This record gives sequence, C-alpha cells and structure tokens, in this order.
Amino acid sequence: MNFELGNKSVVVTGGGSNIGRTIVLAFAQEGANITIGDIDEGQACKVAELARARGAGSVQVVKTDTTQLDQVKVLMDQASARHGGIDVLVNNVGWDQLMFFTQTTPDFWDKVIRINYLSVINCTSAALEKMIPAKGGSIVSISSDASRQGEAREAVYGGTKAAVNSFMKSIAKENGRYGIRCNCVCPGVTIPETEDEVGSTSMWAKPLFTPEQLEKVAAALPLKKVGRPRDIANAVLFLSSSAVAGHITGQILSVSGGYSMIG
Ligand SMILES: NC(=O)c1ccc[n+]([C@@H]2O[C@H](COP(=O)([O-])OP(=O)(O)OC[C@H]3O[C@@H](n4cnc5c(N)ncnc54)[C@H](O)[C@@H]3O)[C@@H](O)[C@H]2O)c1
Repeated sequence: MNFELGNKSVVVTGGGSNIGRTIVLAFAQEGANITIGDIDEGQACKVAELARARGAGSVQVVKTDTTQLDQVKVLMDQASARHGGIDVLVNNVGWDQLMFFTQTTPDFWDKVIRINYLSVINCTSAALEKMIPAKGGSIVSISSDASRQGEAREAVYGGTKAAVNSFMKSIAKENGRYGIRCNCVCPGVTIPETEDEVGSTSMWAKPLFTPEQLEKVAAALPLKKVGRPRDIANAVLFLSSSAVAGHITGQILSVSGGYSMIG
C-alpha cells in the first residue's frame, strides 16, 4: 500500500520513547520530513539519528513541553518553516502511573490532565493555524482503550483520554470543510521491545507491570498477546495518509488485541 507520505511534513509529539519513537521511525521509512517535539531532547535526538538512517527526508528535534502553549507555537512554527507547512500532526504525548483513584492526589490529577489533555488542545490549536490556510491536514491523537472501557487504576487518565476522543470528533466536524481529518488510535497495553526504546521521562522508565501481570493481561485478550509499538504506528500511518484514508474522519480506532470491541 502506498501511503504517499514521502516529503510530507509530519510533527510527532513525544517522539523520543516507545510508541512515539516507533511512529517516528515508521514515517522515516516512508520518506517523510519529521519534527519531533519532546521534553526529553536527548532521547529525541537519538531517535532523530535513527530516523535519518532509515530514510527520512529531513528530521529536526524541537525541545518542547507540550503543556505550554508558547513552546508548542514555536514547535509548529519551526516545523512549518523548515518543512513548508504541517501535513500531519501526531498527538502522542501522554503519561500515567497506575494507582487506584483513592491513592492519587490533586497534584497527580493536575499533571495527568495537563499532559494528556491540555497537550492535545495546545498542539491541535497551533497546528490548525497552519493547516486551515493550507486547506488540508491530518491529525491523529493517541488515546487509549482506557477511554472506552473504564479501567481500574487509570481513572483520571481514562477520563482525559475520553476527553481527547470527544475533542477530536468536534475538531473533525469543525474543520472537515478545510480538508482536515482528525482521528484517534486507542492502544491497549503496548510494551517497549527493549529498555533502549524508552527515555528517563517515559512512563515505562520504571516497569508499569510485573512479568506475571503482563502474562495475565495477554491471556485475557482475544489475540492472547500484548501490543508492540509497531502495531500502533501502522494504524497511525494509515490514518495519517490522505491517499488511503482520505474519507475517514472523527473515528476512534482500537489497536488492542481485541480488548475493546465497540459497535
Ligand atoms: N504504552 C501503552 O501501553 C499505552 C496504552 C494506551 C495508550 N498509550 C498512549 O500512547 C502514547 C505513548 O505512550 P508510550 O507508552 O510511548 O509513553 P512513553 O512514556 O514511553 O513516552 C512518552 C513520551 O512523551 C514525552 N513527554 C512526556 N511529557 C511531555 C511533555 N509535557 N511535553 C513533551 N513531551 C513529553 C516523554 O519524554 C516521552 O518521550 C501516550 O499518549 C499514552 O497515553 C500508551
């Protein structure tokens, strides 16, 4: 399948680690021009080097805290200036720690809401400023199956991801007239292949699951396996591509081994 993503200008937030890292490398193989916006500049630079080696047109890293709108505007300005606009935005930044709601604090709620929801609002706003005059673009937000199922130990996080789903549908409705498509991908548990694939700011920097817990997760899924970052990246490439998904907008796609099956 030809996604026709060569030389497209793609912004990936949180591209330094795990899922975002693999999304960057998947776009690189398609020959895209990539801007990585990550708070962990060192880890993002390692991924940028790999992306160059895998065929990306041009790759830049812009150190960005996506919870800060002024920094996000600089990210989008730099992507647009270097790569002639923004064709694709992947809102991938996210963070959580697994705890029962009664164990969490207001500071934790604030952090989860800012990283998972405010980041998407900031990045979408700044990217639309470039996409609307250009009359086209694709936004893919990495949500979570926790948004669809309700998941123990992910109460606030699941709520922010449900907000992301709803936000993206509204943005899809408002901006389809400009040729802008907006969709979400909902991973289930998606584990890094190796420790090198995560940075110190990753939520995987300390193991989120014991091996026994992961085995139980896999056994409970229809496909009997947990996800890998490439599973998510494949769905992101598909939805990003106007050549193959040009009539798809406002959709929420689970890539989770069958964890959720929403009609
Ligand atoms: N891995 C999973 O099991 C899983 C499951 C469901 C959903 N998701 C979602 O997928 C996305 C990626 O998850 P992951 O497992 O790759 O996470 P990760 O923690 O490994 O990577 C997140 C990246 O985002 C960056 N980041 C964090 N806060 C930032 C900020 N404020 N500004 C800029 N960059 C920031 C980190 O530096 C890191 O590079 C997230 O949105 C997550 O919620 C992941």
